[in-house]
Amino acid sequence: MDALNLQKVCYRYSEGPFVLEDIDIALRQGEKVSLVGPNGAGKSTLLHLMAGLSLPSKGNVDVDGIQLAKRSAPEVRRRVGFLFQDPDDQIFMPTVREDVAFGPNNMGLDEAEVNRRVDSALAQAGVVDLADRVPHRLSIGEKKRVAIAGLLAMSPPTLLLDEPTANLDPQGRRDLVNILKSLPQGFILATHDLSVAFELTERVIVLKRKVIFDGSFRDLVKDEKVLKEANLELPSFSRLMMMYSKGTGTNFPPPLTVEEAYEQLMKGR
Ligand SMILES: Nc1ncnc2c1ncn2[C@@H]1O[C@H](COP(=O)(O)OP(=O)(O)OP(=O)(O)O)[C@@H](O)[C@H]1O
Ligand SMILES: [Mg+2]
Repeated sequence: MDALNLQKVCYRYSEGPFVLEDIDIALRQGEKVSLVGPNGAGKSTLLHLMAGLSLPSKGNVDVDGIQLAKRSAPEVRRRVGFLFQDPDDQIFMPTVREDVAFGPNNMGLDEAEVNRRVDSALAQAGVVDLADRVPHRLSIGEKKRVAIAGLLAMSPPTLLLDEPTANLDPQGRRDLVNILKSLPQGFILATHDLSVAFELTERVIVLKRKVIFDGSFRDLVKDEKVLKEANLELPSFSRLMMMYSKGTGTNFPPPLTVEEAYEQLMKGR
């Protein structure tokens, strides 16, 4: 059974235009996928639907085999962990510790298990020092980490991450990439940061109201039409290597990581 299965999903906000059209996406259990596309492409809207926070205007959303509807939405929400693009939408308890404990408390776990999960999640997200702080006075990057700790504490089978690395400093970004790499869960990662996406997933979905690409990054980086249509810019090391490849007549495929670029350079010496 797929973790997520969307068939012919369309969505419009009240009587406005359709912002999502005919979306077909299947995510296997444990599968990790990036979701990219320009501003306003519908990424956040799509993740809201997958999280059971809104209902499709047309089509079907299945989460772990449960068809999303008004009645099943609470059950769907228990099966996916959603990281909001804006952490202020997510954090609301008086202290960070209480906030991270909110989800596990709601799951009806005993106090010892809640504490164990909270301690472990705070440590994983690198926010142990913030445990007694008031969440709304934290910096944006700190709030983001706290929101991530909240998700980790609940450990749902699938995570939906809306721009998790936005506003994180380089170390925070690196830490988060390492956390996500080590997770057993599948996730969908909406991001504008292609180098993070390259590192974390092989499959990528490009969205612009419709799904305009669903395949491997290897194929996407060669598809100039899709890259252009979705305003996607390859990371600077990738573009540099393409210039080098053209200039030297050595036919490299675009590298997806700095390490790959380095290997290509060493081979071309
Ligand atoms: N509450 C709302 N009411 C009406 N229209 C909305 C609402 N939220 C989003 N939209 C519109 O829906 C479309 C998709 O927005 P969405 O936030 O899903 O895009 P996105 O791909 O997440 O963009 P970004 O990269 O900027 O985060 C946009 O045209 C946006 O203006
Ligand atoms: Mg968004």
